[in-house]
Amino acid sequence: MLELGFEVKEIVEGRARLLVPKGVGEVDPSKLPAFYNPASKASRDIAVLVTAAFFSGGDRTFAEPLAGLGARSVRLLLESGAFSEGKACDINENSVRLISVNARLNGLESRLRAYHMDANVFLSSIAAERQKVHYVDLDPSGSPVRFLEGSIRALLPGGLLGVSATDLAALSGASPRTALWRYGIRLTRTAFRKEVALRALTAVAVMAASRLSRSAVPVFAVIHRHFARVFLTVRRGKTGAFRSVSQLGYLKYCDACLNVERVVELLGTPESCGSCGSPSRLLGPLWLGPLQDPELISRVLSSGLLREETFGEVRGLITHVSEELGDVPFSYPVSELSRRARCSPPSPRTVVTALREMGYRASLTHYDHSAIKTDAPLKVLYEIVRRPA
Ligand SMILES: C[S@@+](CC[C@H](N)C(=O)[O-])C[C@H]1O[C@@H](n2cnc3c(N)ncnc32)[C@H](O)[C@@H]1O
Ligand SMILES: [Zn+2]
Repeated sequence: MLELGFEVKEIVEGRARLLVPKGVGEVDPSKLPAFYNPASKASRDIAVLVTAAFFSGGDRTFAEPLAGLGARSVRLLLESGAFSEGKACDINENSVRLISVNARLNGLESRLRAYHMDANVFLSSIAAERQKVHYVDLDPSGSPVRFLEGSIRALLPGGLLGVSATDLAALSGASPRTALWRYGIRLTRTAFRKEVALRALTAVAVMAASRLSRSAVPVFAVIHRHFARVFLTVRRGKTGAFRSVSQLGYLKYCDACLNVERVVELLGTPESCGSCGSPSRLLGPLWLGPLQDPELISRVLSSGLLREETFGEVRGLITHVSEELGDVPFSYPVSELSRRARCSPPSPRTVVTALREMGYRASLTHYDHSAIKTDAPLKVLYEIVRRPA
């Protein structure tokens, strides 16, 4: 297209018609003249579903500081039924021009405004000009950390923050040095790294809110494909801020036997595993409270939207999230337990059933088909995996 200076094609995502650069699907999204990643559709689907369920009534406003070519903003306006208006910003001029084009293509020219500036300047001006919004969707390539405080300041009291991260090597414990300098969180590789990534990302958001005398409480969190995403309600007040950060803590992990212990008081905590005596590692601070609001999830699950064909991929995922023990901050891969017990692994579902029959709480996880969560002691788990089939 001549006026854009690069070739585009039209695609459909959800109810949106979108003009995207011609190389989409073939070229790495960051190499395109304007960013669009088809693999992130699930992240946009989830944003539509969660905001639809969180906000009842359609007169809310939102801001998307890192909007790419506007796919998410357009879909939030067309599909969630939650918003009357949105502001979409990107630092890339090509993207900003496409945001306007895509808004027009979907009849949203009066409801979606495009901004060409740095995300933090955009967010600060929203806060300074008393244009605060009900929802901020922060969706970076990599880490959201630089934009978190600005996003929180741009929110109206009681607003919702949706934040993603794709720097999963840092957040999951695979790159402990990066986790320490970028987030101030001590991590290590564990058998439940995706859970660690979600709880580290949540902790980062909670700490950012707390610095601004605000509470942040997660209402929905999911890790899927290449991204982790958490939605948090943000409220003003020091008491709430204190209550939120009080749910941060440490986990003590033993790679020899997979034992995990919650640690609230660091001083005097023994370094060896309470189960087998091997050296343990401390991880944290991590969010150790519940990650999900069951009422919000049941509203998502019962919404008519979820039955639309476009939400097929995330329907199963959200169902798995709803069945998971959201208050247990770790999981055990049954294959790893069995390897340590030198026996062949039973199916995770069999282990969950056996635990429930014994009166324990147990579930599968949404992020690892071989893992289970439970409140049963580790030795009970070993007894179950050692049982003859
Ligand atoms: C992962 S993409 C956003 C994708 C979009 N949210 C979606 O769902 O389709 C990240 C975007 O952030 C933009 N970006 C990077 N640094 C920025 C900054 N400092 N200010 C504003 N935009 C920035 C990039 O140009 C890119 O379009
Ligand atoms: Zn141990």
